[in-house]
Amino acid sequence: MSECKGKIAVLTSGGDAPGMNAAVRAVVRTGIAKGYEVYGVRRGYNGLLHREIDKMTFHDVSEKLQHGGTFLFTARSAEFGEDAGKRKAAKICEELGIETLIVIGGDGSFTGAKDLSKYGVNIVGIPGTIDLDIAYTEYTIGFDTAVNTAMEAIDRLRETSNSHERCSVVEVMGRSAGYIALWCGIANGAEQILIPEKFNNDYDKLISRIKKNRELGMTHQVVVNAEGVGHSHSLAKRIEEATGIETRATILGHLQRGGSPTARDRVYASVMGAYAVDVIDQGRKNRLIGYKDGHVYDIDVEEAFAMQKDISDYEYEVAGILGTRCE
Ligand code: F6P
Repeated sequence: MSECKGKIAVLTSGGDAPGMNAAVRAVVRTGIAKGYEVYGVRRGYNGLLHREIDKMTFHDVSEKLQHGGTFLFTARSAEFGEDAGKRKAAKICEELGIETLIVIGGDGSFTGAKDLSKYGVNIVGIPGTIDLDIAYTEYTIGFDTAVNTAMEAIDRLRETSNSHERCSVVEVMGRSAGYIALWCGIANGAEQILIPEKFNNDYDKLISRIKKNRELGMTHQVVVNAEGVGHSHSLAKRIEEATGIETRATILGHLQRGGSPTARDRVYASVMGAYAVDVIDQGRKNRLIGYKDGHVYDIDVEEAFAMQKDISDYEYEVAGILGTRCE
């Protein structure tokens, strides 16, 4: 039997995202194939602090790829947020001989990982969030599934909205990022899109556009509202009062986080999971895995955190043109 090259642990953290299971599966199988022992940590950093850690086999990750959610469970940990929590986590890794921790999660989870690396644990991050709001990478696992789920729901809303000649305000996820809203806005042909990066609270303008659209013959209208702008129910009331058009609000909420991952999420998650192990195998430390210019790549964690991401002005402009009636 060949000698074990070392111990890798993997956890999922923060909000779950469809495709996380595919990433864990890729880490486990690639890790084993390349001579590592791979450990699964249940319940994110919380589970690490409580030693909820098991050695994983090739078979343990069978029948997981096609399912949404995360079979390792996820959690947000207040204890790990403290410095003492990170020290404790690093000590547990040291005691168990775990040199590298692979963290699958979003920005908040990566901040935790970066801080943990200061205590001697090598960390590798795989971006898993439906929000697509991580600066160094053009892709995050779960976005494609979430946006398709929201798009299908909005198609349905549009049908009933059309039948009743109503206005629909539909709220999609994205606490501080408007990517899902922007993509749905374009994919669903929304008449208006409100995203935290761009919306300047000019409700008068919004209402006058809805009125004008109606005057020009639009029977129904869809306003896609990002969670970061929020207040969808009061917005619907305000629109109805100001325009006389019957208006309903729908908040899609957590259903956007569930569901079988799309092919794109499965493939990107699998490739990034495998690549994370390759990065470890090649001796690179404290790296985040991402996609740039159509390729998987890795970047130093500190460097990645210094980057910023802006929503595309052009896509936003296109969405505005396509959704505004003009004669
Ligand atoms: O970060 C992913 C996300 O789904 C956000 O879009 C949303 O604001 C948040 O998580 C909701 O978090 P929770 O599941 O804790 O309510």
